[in-house]
Amino acid sequence: MKFPAAFLWGTATSSTQIEGHINNEWTDFVARDGTTCAIACNSYHQYAEDIQWMRQLGVNAYRMGIEWSRLQPEAQGPLNQSELARYVDQLDRLEAAGIVPMVVLHHFSNPSWINALGGWTNARTIPAFVDYATRLAAALRGRVRLWNTFNEPDTYASCGYLIGQFPPLKKGRLDCFRAVIRHMAEAHERVCRVLRQAGSPLGKVEVGFSKNWTYFQPYRKASPWDALIAAFIHAQLNSLVMKQFLGGARKTASTFLGVNYYGRIRFNHLRPLVPTCGFSRAELARMGIECDDMVERYPAGLESALRELYQQCGLPIYITEHGSSSDDEPFRERDLMDNLGALHRAMEQGVDVRGFYYWSLLDNFEWQFGHSKKFGLLSVDFHDQRRARRLKPLGQIYRKVCLENAVGG
Ligand code: BGC
Repeated sequence: MKFPAAFLWGTATSSTQIEGHINNEWTDFVARDGTTCAIACNSYHQYAEDIQWMRQLGVNAYRMGIEWSRLQPEAQGPLNQSELARYVDQLDRLEAAGIVPMVVLHHFSNPSWINALGGWTNARTIPAFVDYATRLAAALRGRVRLWNTFNEPDTYASCGYLIGQFPPLKKGRLDCFRAVIRHMAEAHERVCRVLRQAGSPLGKVEVGFSKNWTYFQPYRKASPWDALIAAFIHAQLNSLVMKQFLGGARKTASTFLGVNYYGRIRFNHLRPLVPTCGFSRAELARMGIECDDMVERYPAGLESALRELYQQCGLPIYITEHGSSSDDEPFRERDLMDNLGALHRAMEQGVDVRGFYYWSLLDNFEWQFGHSKKFGLLSVDFHDQRRARRLKPLGQIYRKVCLENAVGG
């Protein structure tokens, strides 16, 4: 299965999950396994090495975070020049390695002064973010052409305000969830216009947000309560977010849609059938549900999601994340191949997909689960001060895909 010549094959990371030495709402957060993001993968100091590894992987693209809390530690102040210089060096090294960056502006974290205002529940965060993006665009327009405004607004807002698993650890606050989505969607529209207006000598500026596309379904179709809860969650996390970000006049702001696809969550007696909710993988397998350490795998869903989303919004798509977490590398290989097969089928049916970013380059700090979930193409030794990296078997497999621009040939 060949892919188009200009197709981007990349990996993705986020600042809080890999950099370490960060000062945002995650700094004091202790994950379920007792770990923190204090050092994470130490990429703050080891980014040059990470780029060498990317070279070895043969990728031509990298979706990376630039951390707002580093660049604007004070309210609407000037960008911190030494932090900016570090990111500029990173971008220059990527360029020298022939790797195209996609910069993510917001990936689950804010500067402390924003959190003190109530974060994204407060409409005042919108102009603050637009101000930040305006300054950043002016500083980086010569080096960045691909921008990703928000990563998974639905995950951020639901984990922070509905299920209490991300800072600020609130539960059942549907009002806050909706306010966050509304404010982020407005900021997205305004930032898209700022970035497009700023332009880039590198070519046409592309900008979009990344939607986490999870299917929510009842395990037994005949169970009305499970059908109801699945439909409710779908309405809030999927339909509402798509409408807010891409509905009405907002449709013209983005140039692409980012899709993060992992799989599906099915409900049985109102309980989500996933390993992170207390079921073992073996138990789920007996129910016919194949999971990684996180969610049910559902490659066929990638094909249908891409078709539906493309039909719905008519924008080119980047798969800004797909990956699996497991110690079982042959399982991960099968999962990747099955999902790439689904991607290829969708493209054959006319869906305009421009690139695929594997989540993730490194085993990293997986939010509420800490170091216990391992999504990397490379492992990281978290017991070692130097955070030694090592290529995993899946890294070798992905390398072949990237270099051949093809699957299974
Ligand atoms: C997020 C990542 C996360 C990954 C795996 C996505 O929801 O954007 O930050 O690590 O999924 O759970």
